Amino acid sequence: MFEKARLHAVEPFPGQQPLARKARLTDVNGMFRIINHYAEKQRMLPKTHLQLYENLRDYSVATEGSAPNRLVGCGALHIYWENLAEIRALAVAPENANRGIGTYLVELLLNEAREMQIEQVFLFTYEPRFFSRFGFIQVEHRTMPLKVYNECFHCPKFNKCDELAMVLHL
Ligand SMILES: CC(C)(COP(=O)(O)OP(=O)(O)OC[C@H]1O[C@@H](n2cnc3c(N)ncnc32)[C@H](O)[C@@H]1OP(=O)(O)O)[C@@H](O)C(=O)NCCC(=O)NCCS
Repeated sequence: MFEKARLHAVEPFPGQQPLARKARLTDVNGMFRIINHYAEKQRMLPKTHLQLYENLRDYSVATEGSAPNRLVGCGALHIYWENLAEIRALAVAPENANRGIGTYLVELLLNEAREMQIEQVFLFTYEPRFFSRFGFIQVEHRTMPLKVYNECFHCPKFNKCDELAMVLHL
């Protein structure tokens, strides 16, 4: 169940308008740093600069309220098919964790999906508890359309994937 009231109770930047926007070319180094910080700890998949530049239009970023160019988090919505998209590479800078920024970014990406009339959003993650707060439910990998495994060919864990697949029907 999507606990909307509870999620909106989180205020990432007290007293300030939270800043989130589509990513720009100048954000790529910051996105690379945040994502690969967690990738080195095996908490998410790594991204190269090439992958980030090629898919930059998928990404949104959250920035520090008082310093609009200072990234505190990022995440992407990647469209696969007429009714299907993926949330990928969601990451919040460790020094800004637990301030509601991850929640804020997921809501932003889900709203983007709703605006595009996407029916189903999926993701692969090691953090099922975090995503279940939005109504994502865990599914078997084999129930996902084969097309979504395109990215997996580049993954160091290809054929031994230990991430959990989750789906949300909008
Ligand atoms: C998962 C992640 C994005 C959460 O971001 P965040 O900004 O710290 O999360 P929020 O502050 O919005 O968290 C809101 C709530 O979720 C909880 N939460 C945060 N991370 C959680 C996790 N990994 N598992 C379960 N609950 C989590 C918080 O305790 C908080 O609960 P509360 O509202 O009851 O206090 C962040 O920890 C991260 O970048 N992790 C590494 C990368 C990753 O795993 N990304 C997801 C894969 S695509």
